[in-house]
Amino acid sequence: MPVDVPVVPVILAAGRGTRMHSARPKVLQALAEKTLLAHVLDTVCGLELAPPVVVLGHAADQVEAALGGNYVTATQSPQLGTGHALQCALAAIDAAAVVLVLYGDVPLIRPQTLKALLASRPSDGLALLTVTLPDPSGYGRIVRDDSGAVVGIVEERDADESQKALREVNTGIMAAPCARWADWLSRVGCDNAQGEYYLTDCIALAKADGVPIATHRCHDIDETQGVNDRSQLAQAERVLRARRASALMRAGALLRNPDTIEIRGHVHVGSDVEIDNGAVFEGDVTLADGVRIGAHCVLRNCRLERGAEVLAQSVIDGAEVGAGCRIGPFARLRPGTRLAAGAHVGNFVEIKNAEIDSGSKINHLSYIGDASIGAGVNVGAGTITCNYDGVNKHRTRIGAHAFIGSNTALVAPVSVGPGATIGAGSVITRDAPDDKLTLARARQSTIEGWRRPAKHKE
Ligand code: UD1
Ligand code: MG
Repeated sequence: MPVDVPVVPVILAAGRGTRMHSARPKVLQALAEKTLLAHVLDTVCGLELAPPVVVLGHAADQVEAALGGNYVTATQSPQLGTGHALQCALAAIDAAAVVLVLYGDVPLIRPQTLKALLASRPSDGLALLTVTLPDPSGYGRIVRDDSGAVVGIVEERDADESQKALREVNTGIMAAPCARWADWLSRVGCDNAQGEYYLTDCIALAKADGVPIATHRCHDIDETQGVNDRSQLAQAERVLRARRASALMRAGALLRNPDTIEIRGHVHVGSDVEIDNGAVFEGDVTLADGVRIGAHCVLRNCRLERGAEVLAQSVIDGAEVGAGCRIGPFARLRPGTRLAAGAHVGNFVEIKNAEIDSGSKINHLSYIGDASIGAGVNVGAGTITCNYDGVNKHRTRIGAHAFIGSNTALVAPVSVGPGATIGAGSVITRDAPDDKLTLARARQSTIEGWRRPAKHKE
């Protein structure tokens, strides 16, 4: 392919996606962390071709809004088929360019496959990406003559029995010069089972015109899977999950049950990271050397330093966890949590927007919000920072080596000095001084001579 010819990707995304039975347009269905369409766009954008053109139609406003004004779009209204969709895009494209057609519902295509397809295109000809499937149902079949040359594509609904038996199918991904597409599409009709203008009919026209057609076979059958219904969407999710779990294992992580690990974003791992069954990762997650994640944890946008351990059923969101910290089981770290090395956060503890310095322990049933806690502090079971007065949030400060007795309510804004001890069950509304015992609870008393009431006799 001459290097100076620009390649313009066109992504067909105007269809309704009837088989999905959803109010949401098909190309906006979610696959892992982003829409089907965003997967295709991110892949083509990674190839550094010309800016892509996205063809919108059904729910165009919704799809356009999801694109956030970042892409060139063309509108197809009404939606008369994939051939008509491409025709609607051609006006926006330089006639000298090569057009690479992609479908918005084929999200798992890899960049290297697209590169290989483009490289296989004969000069002034057409390149077609095909795949051979054990079960070709639903796809357009690639029809070849006795010499093996492609003569056309026949859609399943228009195919006869012998054509239905063909297992080599159309992935929907193809490339040809813009001017060729314009010519073929002007000649495509709609006399078929769906009454649509099929893009796939261009292949027979190319053959009739004597235009060279190259097919490039994709050997990974998962990569070219179309997503037309819920079960194909679940299958695509399975494929992506497996791909990402494999990448994590290649990077050195031990996954106890790779089939159950969900990665909806990016996970960076050091060496000897261990991840148990059913962990879900979202956004950007970094796990340093030797981090261990227990069963059924959810980690979102967080960073865990060397040797930190998260026990089962914990949720970590927007937090920084220092080296050797121990979290959970059943702990929840919310955004703005920063734990220094060796801090412990135990079961049924929720922490939000708080810094906890090294070696401090909050081991049971607590809420710590909008707080700064020094090093070596022990926060007893059931301690609550009362950070919200119904209108504003206030901070609680606890100095190093303080000891907060169980079931203490710290009514913010309030400070507890370094080395202070707070008696269990206190409601602390004023600052507590350093190194002293502060109690804020009713004094215990015993009533001498008191007797339990006796049962009255009839
Ligand atoms: C299509 C191909 C089929 C191929 C399969 C691969 C045609 C006629 N058939 O079938 O050969 O094996 O994909 O997955 O091309 N779209 C528009 N405008 C329209 C219709 C569709 O933009 O008027 C878009 C859809 O949003 C979708 C893509 O084109 O992203 C494919 O449409 P779809 O209806 O899913 O075609 P398939 O039946 O899957
Ligand atoms: Mg489809």
